[in-house]
Amino acid sequence: MCGIIAGVSGHDVTGTLLEGLKRLEYRGYDSAGLALIDEQGEILRKRSTGRVKALQDEVTSDVRVRGNIGIAHTRWATHGKPTKQNAHPHICNETVALVHNGIIENHEALRASQEKMGYRFTSNTDTEVIVHQVHSNLEHSADLFSALQQTIKELEGAYSLAVISNLEPDCLVVARQGSPLVIGLCEGENFIASDVAALLTKTREFIFLEDGDVACITADNVRIVDTNGKQVDRQVHHSRLNSDSVELGEYRHYMLKEIYEQPTAAADTLEGRLSGNRLLAATFGHEADEIFDSITSVQIIACGTSYHAGLVARHWLEEFAGVATSVEVASEFRYRSHVVPENCLVISISQSGETADTLAALKYAKEIGFQHSLCICNVAESSLTRESDMVLLTHAGPEIGVASTKAFTTQLIALMQVVIALGQRNSMTHEQEERIVRELRSLPVKIAEALELDTEITVIAEKFAHKKHALFLGRGTHFPIAMEGALKLKEISYIHAEAYPAGELKHGPLALIDNEVPVIAVAPNNELLQKLKSNIQEVRARGGELIVFADPATGFKEKDGLTVIEVAPVDDIIAPIIFTIPLQLLAYRVALIKGTDVDKPRNLAKSVTVE
Ligand code: G6P
Repeated sequence: MCGIIAGVSGHDVTGTLLEGLKRLEYRGYDSAGLALIDEQGEILRKRSTGRVKALQDEVTSDVRVRGNIGIAHTRWATHGKPTKQNAHPHICNETVALVHNGIIENHEALRASQEKMGYRFTSNTDTEVIVHQVHSNLEHSADLFSALQQTIKELEGAYSLAVISNLEPDCLVVARQGSPLVIGLCEGENFIASDVAALLTKTREFIFLEDGDVACITADNVRIVDTNGKQVDRQVHHSRLNSDSVELGEYRHYMLKEIYEQPTAAADTLEGRLSGNRLLAATFGHEADEIFDSITSVQIIACGTSYHAGLVARHWLEEFAGVATSVEVASEFRYRSHVVPENCLVISISQSGETADTLAALKYAKEIGFQHSLCICNVAESSLTRESDMVLLTHAGPEIGVASTKAFTTQLIALMQVVIALGQRNSMTHEQEERIVRELRSLPVKIAEALELDTEITVIAEKFAHKKHALFLGRGTHFPIAMEGALKLKEISYIHAEAYPAGELKHGPLALIDNEVPVIAVAPNNELLQKLKSNIQEVRARGGELIVFADPATGFKEKDGLTVIEVAPVDDIIAPIIFTIPLQLLAYRVALIKGTDVDKPRNLAKSVTVE
């Protein structure tokens, strides 16, 4: 989704802006652009479709493109095609330039009134109305800062904005409502960006703006007003990340790097939370005890991969903690009526903490009377963490590949910690807690073992590359794992993949089976094994080609049309996490053969900050 970087300095900022745009590429985009105020006090703009590299080539081939203040943007098209004309920055009357992330919902009304005022539009975007509005307000305002404060009162929707004007070439003004924006503080210069990762080569000191904030930033000062126009001090945070954490290193793709980081990510998400065979009570913060004591049910809301983590957790919460649990995709949850149960804990799950639907669903849940909220998130200072009563961080480190991998497995680990915390108050025995904690502790080693399947999977992947469809089967906690496997494959290899609970085969999908549709089954050695075996027979009997990821004790034997990949035996409790690893590798290896853009698959975005 769109990314913003902007800065003001005592010297040329062009290089920093281009470098920042590269670091924002992972968010997903289809065009890019930047605007600077040059030495003559004129706004200079460059835009291009496609990759940031194309923009960079254009900028470096034109020596005039320099400036001590500038704004830059990667655009993920919503209103208007991904053309150069629609790319940001947008400019009004050669005086005001602006970049925007989000969606302006009242853009049609604003456009109509601006056209009457004589403003000419050069794009099909919702964004262009903002730049004209700022320009119009500037005529009656003391300065650009007040013009932007006035403008945001007239906007409906979600936005983060960065604006410059050659009438005030020393000052960058920014605003935030619903879309992320951070200020990176440096010596003699300051920058803003959509996320910390874009600025890590410049600084580790950050201010996270809150919704409604507007800031005026110069090379040596930051002034912030809140939604009421009152000057406020926002805390400065020191980021623990360094620029290496977002470097590719020896890996060909971020996705592969992130798959291989899972043993460490798992260990980091457990660190400081376990003692002996128990989960530490302090894991959820001091207010958690009282809230957890009162909880009788759980409502999980999330999108995409995070939703799949929620589906696994439902099984765990009901089985081990004895707590009734519902799971719903956030975009559906927020648009229907609910019977609000008393003492229900809303758990939002999100890698980024910025997914618009998840954030809106949480706000809606609170409005309609859900009393308590916990957020499982990978980004400490995100919108979702700020909106939640309690936060449990996954310490996966930055995830850059659009297809989520280490965020998912660490979400499952964090969710298991919730299961223990609620279980301790309900039906969970000491023995069960000990078993879960022991299994959690074994995860870094067991995940590393599962990664060794990579070579075998690379061979199997050859069978897939020319297929158009694939079916994933699982049962119980492994049905959501099959869903996650199918999602990974479709996201990055563009093969149409669907997941079914294996018992549903004969209610429809069996009609699709022939030797052109490979079927991938997830087969741990659990109480559903015999049922799954029968379902697999149904596929074989119809000439389907099967690939089974199986615990060796399941007794699957390779034969014509049946390939078995043995996954080392693990306790049922952690099996969903372990079986995820080969499915991630399978998707990656197939995508590699197909030559797709693994880290930035077409049409997708990492952080979906619009509805
Ligand atoms: C996008 C990403 C997915 C992610 C989903 C939810 O679709 O491409 O990888 O699972 O958003 O994101 P979140 O940050 O809320 O987990």
